[in-house]
Order: sequence, then C-alpha cells, then structure tokens
Amino acid sequence: MPTQSAVQHHFPLQSLNTFGIAAYAQRYLRVDSVERLRAALADPALAALPRLVLGGGSNLLLTGDVAGLVLHIAIEGRAIVGGDDDYSYVRAAAGENWHGFVQWTLAQGLGGLENLALIPGTVGAAPIQNIGAYGAETQDLFHSLTAFDPASGATIVIDKAGCRFAYRDSYFKHDGGRDLIIVDVTFALPKRWRPNLRYAELAQALAEQGMAAPTAQQVADAVIAIRRRKLPDPQAIGNAGSFFKNPLVSGEQCARLLERFPGLVHHRQADGGEKLAAGWLIDQCGWKGRSLGAAGVYAQQALVLVNNGGATGADVTRLAAAIQADVEARYGVRLEPEPVFV
Ligand code: EPU
Repeated sequence: MPTQSAVQHHFPLQSLNTFGIAAYAQRYLRVDSVERLRAALADPALAALPRLVLGGGSNLLLTGDVAGLVLHIAIEGRAIVGGDDDYSYVRAAAGENWHGFVQWTLAQGLGGLENLALIPGTVGAAPIQNIGAYGAETQDLFHSLTAFDPASGATIVIDKAGCRFAYRDSYFKHDGGRDLIIVDVTFALPKRWRPNLRYAELAQALAEQGMAAPTAQQVADAVIAIRRRKLPDPQAIGNAGSFFKNPLVSGEQCARLLERFPGLVHHRQADGGEKLAAGWLIDQCGWKGRSLGAAGVYAQQALVLVNNGGATGADVTRLAAAIQADVEARYGVRLEPEPVFV
C-alpha cells in the first residue's frame, strides 16, 4: 500500500490552476482516498488551518499566496452502480477529470452528459458550480453525492434537493455547505436517451452536418468542436472559462435596456426574469481582444479573461474591475465574477 503523502510547505500552485498564476500554498496535501482525507483532518493542527479544497483549479483566481492548507482532492474511480427502468446510475470519485468521466460514460453507451463535454475541472467540482453548457446543467443529470463533513468526521449523502442547485450556484457555496468536502458524485443517466438540442448553436452545427438524429457521441463531438473554436485551451492560454456570470435582470429592466440597445442578447427565464449575455455586454464596450498589462480579454469570446503570460491575480482583478465599471456605466448592470477569488 502506498504511504500517505506528506504535507508540503511553500508548495507551488502554478501548474494546479488553469489561469496559470504563480502562487504558493503555505501547506499542501494531496489525498487519494476518503480514509486519507479523514486521517489528515483528524490531525488537530491540520484541521485548524484555514483550508482551500482544490480540484482541477479551473474555477479559481489566485490573488496571492494561499495561507493555510491547500487540500488537493485526487480520489479516483468510476463505476456503473445500478439501474432501473428509467435510469442507469453512474458514480465517479471527486478527483476524476470531468471530461474523462463524460467520455467514459459515452464509451459505456450511456448518453446524458454529452452537452457537458470538455468542461475543464473535476467531478467533485461539478455540483458546487452546477456546471453547465450548451443547454444542460449538472442538476439535470444529478442524482446524489457523498460529502465528508470535517466537523463530524462522517460522510453524508446529499440528494438533489439538498444541493439547492441554481445557475452556477449550489448549497456548497453557502453557509452550511461550504465546509463540506465532496468525495463522489452519482448521476442518473436516462435509458430513453434523446439528444438535447435546446441550444441553438449546437442544433445548427449538427443540422449543418446533416445529422437529424445524432448519437450522444456525435453531440459530444459537436460540443467539443464549438468549445475548441470559441474557448481557449487552458494548456495553451491560462484562463478559467467564463469569468463573469450571465446577469439575471427583471423583465422590466430588460425591456428598458432593449429600447436603448435593440441588439441586446437576452434569454427569458422560467420566473419571467431575463438572463443577459455578459459576453455581448463586454464585447459592446469594446473590450474583446484588449489587454491591460499581462491580463487580457480573449479575442474569440469576450466573457473569457486570459493570462497573456506572467499575469498575477492583481492583473486579472484590475482588468475585471475595469470591465465591470464600463459595463455598469453603459448598461446599469453589475457583472459578478464566476471564479472563486482566493
Ligand atoms: N457574445 C458576443 N460577444 C462575445 C461573446 C458572446 O456578442 O464576445 C454573444 C454571442 O453571440 C451569443 C451570446 O453572447 O449571442 C452568448 O454567447 P455564448 O453562446 O458564447 O455563451 P455565453 O453565454 O457567453 C455560456 C456559459 C459558458 C457555456 C456557454 C455555452 C456562463 C457564464 N457561461 O457562455 O460556460 O460554455 O454558455 O452554453 O454561463 C463557463 O461557465 O465557464 C462557461 C464557459
């Protein structure tokens, strides 16, 4: 049996965050099993440190060195754990790479997660952020998860209602849920699978290829092609995906904006509110492709901020603040960052 990896001091995090920001963790520990996680946090000295739970580091902006403990969740494993008339149930450990897991489900002949192909990060982070793309969100396929509660040392199972999913939001970003450490996630994948082509750009891409009835793999391939075209590969250009959430505004506010800006991109929500395309707002303010120091706005998608090389968290924060100020001055809408600032 491999030995418990030791706690590292002043550990470099540059390769562990997709923005590629150079910063250090005061203490760092990589855990590859629930038992090791439990053992580590049973040490009162470690448990007392402020803690940053790290997965794929793809939704993170490091604004400086991290005081306390960076706990890197590297627990692996995935399996089909059951089925009934309607669903196949698949479970993956929190440290599994998300896209690797999606590809694995497709290789098992199980559709459902294909619209979420190629999203960077880990399985454990997916429910925290309720990751979504191309007409699907984690919550649509989610069944339950197991979380480790450092306060009690116990693991607990949380169902869909308990996760309080919302747009890029969940219980795990709020009091009560914030301290829990997700160790595995179970998804319910529909046996009577049908392609989800709600997202116009995806439907159009498949139609252009003459695919009236695509397979789940074909949908995944189309999603991958769109993402490759519009979003920078973090291996090549540091970034954390969309830097801002698409703002939710009231129907009245949207109507007022449309009078002045007829091209405004908006999507009606079930509650009568409207979701605005932050990328469009930023683009209209002239920020697309522009840089401020070593941080820039991606030339193909204005919602993505990039590290042009050597950017610090302060560079990115300065650029983000300038964009927020311009968008607010012109549209009266405050953009809220999507990544976690540490
Ligand atoms: N737009 C512009 N200029 C831009 C960017 C976008 O005018 O520079 C317009 C587009 O033409 C389109 C609209 O804004 O009409 C929306 O753009 P897009 O389809 O690219 O999607 P998004 O709203 O910018 C969201 C998610 C992405 C997800 C895509 C696809 C958020 C914050 N972002 O982006 O998620 O991949 O939809 O579903 O909800 C992420 O969260 O990190 C992420 C990449």
